This record gives sequence, structure tokens and C-alpha cells, in this order.
Amino acid sequence: SIHLSDYRAPAWRIVHADLEFDLDAGATEVTAHLRLQPDPEQPDAPLRLDGEDLQLLDLRIDGAPLPSDAYRVDAAGLHIEGLDGACTLTSRVRIRPIANMRLEGLYASRGALFTQCEAEGFRRITWFVDRPDVMPTWRITLRAERAQYPVLLANGNPVEAGDLGDGRHFATWHNPHPTPAYLFAVVAGDFGCVESRLARADGREVALAVWAAHEDVPRCRYALGAVERALRWDEERFGRVYDLDVFNVVAAQDFTMGAMENKGLNIFNARYVLADEDTATDADYMGIESVVGHEYFHNWSGNRVTLRDWFQLSLKEGLTVFRDQEFTSDLHSRAVKRIEDVRLLRARQFAEDAGSLAHPVRPPSYREINNFYTLTIYEKGAEIVRMLHTLLGEARFRVGMDLYFARNDGRAATVEDFLAAHAEASGRDLSQFARWYAQAGTPHVEVKDDFDADGGTYTLEIAQRTPPTPGQPDKAPLHLPLRFALYDAEGRRLKVDPRADDGSGDRIELTAARHRLRFHGLPSRPLPAFNQGFCAPVKLAYDYTPSQLGLLARCERDPFNRWDALQRLATGVLLEHFTDAAAAGAALLAALGDLIDDEGQDPAFAAECLLLPDFDTLAEAVPSIDVDALIGARNDLLDRIALEHVERLDRRYHALAAAAAGGLEPAAMSARRLRNVCLDLLTRLDPGAALAQAQFDAARSMTDRLGALRCLVHHDAPGRQAALDAFAGRYATDPLVTDKWIALVASRPHPDALLDVRDLFATQLWTPTNPNRVRAVLGSLSRMNPLAFHAPGGEGYALLAESLPELDGINPQVAARLLAGFESWRRLAGARRNRVEAVLQGLEGRLSSPDSLEMLARLRA
Ligand code: ARG
Ligand code: ZN
Repeated sequence: SIHLSDYRAPAWRIVHADLEFDLDAGATEVTAHLRLQPDPEQPDAPLRLDGEDLQLLDLRIDGAPLPSDAYRVDAAGLHIEGLDGACTLTSRVRIRPIANMRLEGLYASRGALFTQCEAEGFRRITWFVDRPDVMPTWRITLRAERAQYPVLLANGNPVEAGDLGDGRHFATWHNPHPTPAYLFAVVAGDFGCVESRLARADGREVALAVWAAHEDVPRCRYALGAVERALRWDEERFGRVYDLDVFNVVAAQDFTMGAMENKGLNIFNARYVLADEDTATDADYMGIESVVGHEYFHNWSGNRVTLRDWFQLSLKEGLTVFRDQEFTSDLHSRAVKRIEDVRLLRARQFAEDAGSLAHPVRPPSYREINNFYTLTIYEKGAEIVRMLHTLLGEARFRVGMDLYFARNDGRAATVEDFLAAHAEASGRDLSQFARWYAQAGTPHVEVKDDFDADGGTYTLEIAQRTPPTPGQPDKAPLHLPLRFALYDAEGRRLKVDPRADDGSGDRIELTAARHRLRFHGLPSRPLPAFNQGFCAPVKLAYDYTPSQLGLLARCERDPFNRWDALQRLATGVLLEHFTDAAAAGAALLAALGDLIDDEGQDPAFAAECLLLPDFDTLAEAVPSIDVDALIGARNDLLDRIALEHVERLDRRYHALAAAAAGGLEPAAMSARRLRNVCLDLLTRLDPGAALAQAQFDAARSMTDRLGALRCLVHHDAPGRQAALDAFAGRYATDPLVTDKWIALVASRPHPDALLDVRDLFATQLWTPTNPNRVRAVLGSLSRMNPLAFHAPGGEGYALLAESLPELDGINPQVAARLLAGFESWRRLAGARRNRVEAVLQGLEGRLSSPDSLEMLARLRA
């Protein structure tokens, strides 16, 4: 494995790369002219170039053929010794895009050619010093048959294009910005586009285009609008201006990840580009805008300022997730966005941090970097940046960001560079804060209080500790901001610190393992509230009574905390934490009833409150996971809520009909969201599912159609099969919508879902080379269907494991990610733990990629 502490600057740098491609799906020839410069500090170091699956055709130094005894090729590299200084290396290689199933490097998809180079895919295209701190400027010439590949795109600005005779043509692109190879991209194929022009803040113009297969072009409009909004927002909020004449986005149906921020040529999984009312849900639209923003924002946080090495991955990903979260929050509801993000963090990142795959935001070592594109790097990384923003405040944070960008522009930076810029700009000592990057595990913050009625003195005792994680038994205290507020018995805010009254609560900074806070002159014991806006990514324990949580759900000024009070109440009811269970249930039902009726509240917020903590979140809140008990408790409580509030739910469902019939405006999206939550609760009580059937039949948007279909399928309605067939027939030619119904079938909370998945394997629908399809089937089963996945006999585990050896041979990243679905296995109660253990043992010797081998080893360690 590779260790952060072993970092050494490259012995040879590439200052300019001039590449020529003769593109063809069966055999592409790549000629690379690399201008090489040795590091004067490392004289006589041999030149080592990375390369995998390359057929070497020719090798020259400064134009002269290199004799075969002057270099050596092994499985991973090309070694040349005895070079005596700066020179130009020219190599010619042949590669086979059509045979590339890993979708790393140059690959074919539906008659077109795409690249994916992050993290180490460029070495599958040509010999190169494939590391992010090697940043040449680029000139890229593409030659191909015009009929099959009329569109030829690459990084940077277009410089020249023309005919070559013989049905062939060419295009040359120039990227003047120093850019590492992981951001290299070319696309060739028969695409159409939607386009627009935008004036940049510096007065220049940029031509924007979103490309897709011709039949999909009408569904690219929304993504183009999102690019325009992202470009403006980054100018206004971060002062970041775009730096090329063109910005291209291309949709690919075969794509391993969500999207990729290649310089000037973002390549996207089609699911984050294509949308229209008939095929995309409101959630899809929001996902598209957020991912478009994310990739666009990388142009500064990732591309202009890139990474010194892959250990720094969160330097670009955590920061860019923070930026895309702020983008969405500024454009839509900040409260709802925060709730969604925290939901994901608690359900998935906390589980990662508590499981076999726990790792710090900056891991100290890895075998396969692709295994570290995790929720910890992305989401916890974003939380760290958010804490910094909270500690410094928006104005000083912005000064620190400006300094970071200015100082590191065109450089390959580290987490230390980022913190140094903020420390300098704010005058604050961030050395303890840096521990967040090194220490894995979710911190527990426990608060105890005491009230002395005589003197009116209120004391808060706050303790933090982080539990051990694999390889890190001992943890040190972290520096974190903790907001809090005190309320009186009527829910009025008590002013305890006149300096902060922005509704966000007062704030202290924890640095030690224990802190004590004292407040004097209080008339009675106050009700405390903590961690407004979830300003620190911790588990906070305070012994609330049900009625206190009911009061907080009404009076807390911070909307996130109002939602969180209900989540705490629901969690306590589900896990039987309250001594007075009856009172707790009653408080929860009363609060939810008020919300269903409350027309003054954003319906999307009410919808979030009505959704109970999901299985993963509950599983993460208990020491040992009793699958049946958790699923059973959740179902019982949902039934109880539905039964108690059936009239209210029905009334609100119908009252929202008019608003829900609108388009993409926030009020309509919000209305559809709450309506679909009401529909799900109502369908629990109605075996005939008449309401869901009616909504399905009348639906005019995918949100309503899919919402209704989900109710029919997940609640076993009589019309379930007919509706599934109708839906499948209507969208048979659309892979993205087909993925949606496959995901519904695979996530149906019924033991038979395993049989349905097996049936799918036997149909044309099972295309193991398409990552979206594999995820729709197996990701949905393992991540969204605890009931079937954790079938008591281990059949779910076996089903997932069975498919892994084949998938690993096709696309290791996809296989390794599915394997991570077992991350919490050590905490499973009863026989399930043994069943997973047996399944993991059975995989030994049947997987071959470094990706899956590393995952398996960490799971079993
Ligand atoms: N940098 C991409 C993003 O925007 C993700 C690329 C992931 N690639 C990989 N091989 N793991 O987040
Ligand atoms: Zn990213």
C-alpha cells in the first residue's frame, strides 16, 4: 500500500503535453509528445512513466528512436535511465476502447467514445507521469471518421478543425491552464446539443453547451440552465470567474460515477443531465442542479487549485460539496437542504465511520484510491469546511477562501495549505482543528445539566469523546463549534449572551474533553437546545423528556432543530428509550398531527418531519443491530401515525392537489413532496390502494407517477403488477426510467424481492456492463431493502455475493462499492453476523481486482 508519509515530489515533470489521437472503437492510436523536465533536487533519477494495457508501437527521445536496451517495460510502468536533462519524449501506443469494460481510460459506449481518468485512468491511454502534482499545459488533436464521430471534444478551447479527406476529419483543442492528467478528457460521437452564451464577470463571453445523443437533446435544457446558474453563483458568492471560452457538458449512459469535472469538458452520468416532466422526478431535477453545480465549482476547487497527491482528495471533494450545498441552499430552501444532507450523513457516513471501513477524511494509506471516494471524504469533508465557516463567519471565511485560491492558483495543494490560508486570513490557530482530517469516527458529545434554584444558576457540563476505529484505538479531543440556546417553559428564548442573537443560538467552541458553562440569574430551569443547523457533525446526547422535545419542535427558532427534535422523539419511541413510553408516543403523534394541518409551514419541511429515521440511521444508533426489531418498530409506528391521523392526512392530500399540479416552481415541488408522504401513510391503511391507483392513473408528472407506483409496489396493492407493466411498457426504451422501476422492485420490502431480483438476472434487463443498471438492481437491494437483504437465512447476502466475481471482472469500482454494502456486518445481531462472515469467507479467492481485494481485506480485518 501507499503511505501519505512517503510523499516525494516527482523526479520528472511534464510541462507540456501534445497528444494526437487516431480514434476508432476497435483500435485507437495515441501519439504523445511530452516535454519533460528533471527536478534539479533529484539529479540522475530515472524516468518512470505509468502505463497499463498499452501496446507500445514507437518510442523516441527528441525525435530519435530509443534502442530497446535503453528502456524497460513492466506491468505498471516504463523505465528509462540515463537521460541527461530536459527533453521531449514521443510515444505511440495502441489501445482498444471497445474492450474496455472498466470504463476507466478511453472507452466505447453506444457508438461513441468517452474518457474517465480520475483517479488513475489516464495511464490506460498513454505513457505518462500520472499523478496530480504533474500539471502540463495541453494541446490535443483528435482525428476520426466523420460519419460515426461528427463531434470531437477535448479539454480547453477549440483552436482548429477541418477535413482530412477519405471521410475523416480532425479537431484541435488547447488547454492553457496547468492541468493534471486526471482531468484530461476527450469525447467523440454523434451528439446534438443545447447551447447558450453568457457574459463572464470579467467581461469575456463563454459558450456553454450540453451534449447528448440526438434523441435526448430536448431533455438537456434544465442542465444547461443549471450551468448558467452555477456560473453566476460562483462569481457572486465566491468571486470565482470562469477561465475558458467554452464550457461543455456531455451525457454518457455508461458511466461509473455521478460525473467528472474534466477541465472545460465535464462528462456526466446521463442520470444527472437528462430531465423532462415525463421522465424526471423533482428529486432528479434537484440532483441534476446540484451535481452540475458541483462539477462546475471544481473548476476552481480542484482544477485551478489541484491536489498534491490523492491523500488530499477531500481538499477538493469536501470543499466542493460544501460549495454545492451552499449553491442549493441559496437557490432553494436552506432548511430542507440541511435536513436532507444531515439525513444522508447520519444514515450513511456515520455508519461508515462506525463500521469496518472507517477511515479519516485524510487517510494515511491506501491500496486502491478508487476505494476512497467515500461519504467520509465527501460528506464529512464538507462538514469540516462548514465548521470552519461557522467558526470564522461568512466574511472572514470568504477572505480565507480568496487567499487560498490566490496563493495556490496553478498549484497542487494540501490540506495544510487550505488551513494555513484560513489561519492567516482570520488570525486564528487552526492546529487543533486539523485533527478532524486525521481522526476517524463520529465524536459523541454528551451534555448534562444542573439547576440551582436558590441562586438561579444553571450549569452545563459538556463532554466529548470519539470511539475507537480500526487502527485508531485512542482519540484526542477535537476543536468544534457548538451552538446552543436556552428557552423558558413557555418556549421563549432566554438571552444569555447578548453578543449573538441571530436566531442561531449562542456558540461555544469545544477544545477540551470537558467544558463547564455557567449561567446566573435564571428564573427557572431552562430548556436547552444544541447544535443548531447541525453546526458540528457529532452525536449529541442530552436526556430530554418527550414533552421537552415536543416543546422544542414548536418553539426552537432554528428549523433544522425543530425537525431534529421530532427525529429524536421518534428515535426514542422506536428504540424504547423513554421511561414513559405512552407519553412519548402521544407527544410525537400530537406534534405530527399539528404539522399535517399547519398550512403556514413549508410542505416540504412537514414532509421531512413525517419521515421517520430510516433503517440505516436507527441501525447506527444502537450497539447491536436487531434487524427484525428495527424494521418491525418502524412499521408499527408508521401504521400508528397513519391510523391516528387518517382524516388529517386525507384532507391535506386533497387540499394540496391544486398546488401539486404546478410545474417546477418551489411551491409545486413542495406540495408534491408532502402529498406523496401522505399518500404513503394513507396506503398503509387501504389494502385496495384506491388513492394510489388513482394518482398513478391520473399522474402528469414523473414525481406523482413514481410516487404512486412506489406505494402500489411497496404496499402490495392488488393493482401492483398491472401498474408495473404499464410503467415498464411506457418507458421500455428509456434506460434511466427503466432503472427507476427496477429500483422499486428491488427495494420492495418483501422477502419475494429476492426472487424478483433473481428473475431480473435472467432477462435482457440485466446488463452487468452498465453501472446504473447494476446499481438499480443490486445497490437498491443491498442499500434500500433491509428486509430482503437481511433475510434471516442469508439469501440476500448470498445473492449479492454471487454476482460479485463476475462484476469484479467487468468493472472493479462497481464491484468494490457493492461489497461496501457489508460495512456494518460486525454489529449485526444473532445468526446474521455469522452468515455474512461465511459469505465474505466464500468470496476469498474469487475476486481479483485490487479494489475488491482491498475492500474484502478491510471488511474481514
Ligand atoms: N471527481 C468526481 C466528482 O465530482 C468523481 C470522480 C470519481 N472517480 C473515481 N474513479 N472514483 O466527485
Ligand atoms: Zn467532486
